[in-house]
Amino acid sequence: MKQFTSVQDLQPFPGTTGLSDAINTLVEDALKYKANPLMDKNLGAGKRIGLLFLNPSLRTRLSTQVAAANLGMDAIVFNVDKEGWALEFEEGAIMSGNSVEHIKDAAPVLGSYFDILCIRTFPSLKNREDDYSELYITQFIKYCGVPVISLESATLHPLQSLTDIITIVEQQHQFPSLKKGNKSRIVLTWAPHVKPLPQCVANSFSQWINAWGEADFVIAHPQDYELKEEFTKGATITHNQDEALKDADFVYVKNWSTYNDYGKIYENDPQWMLTEEKLKITNHAKVMHCLPVRRNVELSDEVLDSANSIVTQQAANRVWAAQAVISSILKSSDIR
Ligand code: CP
Repeated sequence: MKQFTSVQDLQPFPGTTGLSDAINTLVEDALKYKANPLMDKNLGAGKRIGLLFLNPSLRTRLSTQVAAANLGMDAIVFNVDKEGWALEFEEGAIMSGNSVEHIKDAAPVLGSYFDILCIRTFPSLKNREDDYSELYITQFIKYCGVPVISLESATLHPLQSLTDIITIVEQQHQFPSLKKGNKSRIVLTWAPHVKPLPQCVANSFSQWINAWGEADFVIAHPQDYELKEEFTKGATITHNQDEALKDADFVYVKNWSTYNDYGKIYENDPQWMLTEEKLKITNHAKVMHCLPVRRNVELSDEVLDSANSIVTQQAANRVWAAQAVISSILKSSDIR
């Protein structure tokens, strides 16, 4: 694997067109690492991974560091937003403003220090075309010269989505009743929030679950919160949360701001908060959230503190997703 920025970076297995087998292989690898974290403890010996953050993080930063350490790599974190020079990403920019260094100059230097680079960038939520062009991560990949892992970009969060499928599979192994026939009913439901958030987690979860193809996938959101069709195509979409929750095996709760009239929150209808009462409609559903979560805004305390909540397990699994991805890159011919 040369880069990990989207499910589209996975390769279909020979003789297949879909990505289901490739996703399941990464999931199996991750669960092997969970069972035996140090089984490849020398795989990355002598190699260095750089984790660059243009935005805050708790889980992504620490889980990726732990994963790299389990593989014997040296991990160095650089909070570019706080400690680095202000970067320019536009080609041909006249740099007479606040930006000090062009990515064209900074990225190759970083590539000379590290064997793998990881980067987190958020969207501005001001200009949809700019955000969805993924200028930051695209320019970084273009100029750094080493494999790149997305730690969340303007529109996607692939390490989170891989983790989410790992967690779902793990739960299905533990509780077969969560899988009716071949598939679980997985519901992604919009939740209220106090400020406009990126669409990354919802886009990415939709993209991965659709590519995986092993779920009865439903997305519930208020009117005008449609996500980009490129990611949701294949899912059932409804504005009726109760209808969506009926018989759900997994409920993934997440806020996102509007995509069409970009980056807005029109309503913060508290009725969309997931409560114990709503959970009763489901098939004793396991409740997921990528964290950080606004308690009693997105999800009630009762739900988050109940046995249905698997958010801590989900966040813990971030390590194994990162380890499976880093390992796959280390084993590929794309590493120098
Ligand atoms: N879920 C997630 O990406 O968490 P952090 O923002 O804390 O990394």
